[in-house]
Amino acid sequence: MSDWISFYDFKHSVIYVNARHRDVHYRIIAEGIHAYVPAHSAVVLDYGCGEATSADLVAAASAHLSLVEAAPNVRAALAARYAGNEKISVLTPDEVAARPAGSFDLIVMHSVAQYLTTAELDRLLAIFRTLLKPDGLCIIGDIVSPKLAAPAAALALLRFGAAHGFFWAAVGGLIRIFLSDYFRLKKTHGLSHYDEAAMLKRLRAAGFAARRAPRNIGHNQWRMTFLARLL
Ligand SMILES: C[S@@+](CC[C@H](N)C(=O)[O-])C[C@H]1O[C@@H](n2cnc3c(N)ncnc32)[C@H](O)[C@@H]1O
Repeated sequence: MSDWISFYDFKHSVIYVNARHRDVHYRIIAEGIHAYVPAHSAVVLDYGCGEATSADLVAAASAHLSLVEAAPNVRAALAARYAGNEKISVLTPDEVAARPAGSFDLIVMHSVAQYLTTAELDRLLAIFRTLLKPDGLCIIGDIVSPKLAAPAAALALLRFGAAHGFFWAAVGGLIRIFLSDYFRLKKTHGLSHYDEAAMLKRLRAAGFAARRAPRNIGHNQWRMTFLARLL
């Protein structure tokens, strides 16, 4: 397990300043994914879904939703949360990689690419290329640009908190994140940043025709979402 995966493998990640932040965050992500579900018959994959507390919203709009998480405790919590929902499966990365080619109409990987090396990202894009149906859509979201990534994330969190009634918790949360392993891991393991041209080039090399979406999924509009289809 990579150290970033261990970092996220808590019952409640330090990344969310409180339960309200976590739930508003995942509701907005789910609404963003929901907007891209092409039809009620669609089979959807959310790769690196995290706690995904509003995944039922996406599942309700599709035929089936596979949630993939590498962190075992997060995966166990997802399995417990959605045990009664037969439209949702919770899978490991290896389990989804073994699924037949052309299994999914929509594949989403949101806010994960920054924790992957470029080689890991390329390996995953190759897997997504195989798993996607020929007319399917692959969404790579929350790509962090190299410019002012940390101040932009902090400011976006404070604005998000102000808009949703957890501003002071966001201030406290930023201090907690600062004192957590996040910055140590950032130093030792790094975070992968891409500007728009670099990500488009990477997606093209992986066999996708891609464009940047007008809005990023989620609250941080300094980050970017890319919409990719098979070349
Ligand atoms: C910032 S969270 C994003 C969660 C959710 N997608 C969102 O947008 O809020 C990153 C998640 O990616 C997961 N992750 C990191 N590396 C992964 C990998 N190689 N395969 C699958 N999940 C991974 C982490 O465990 C964590 O839950």
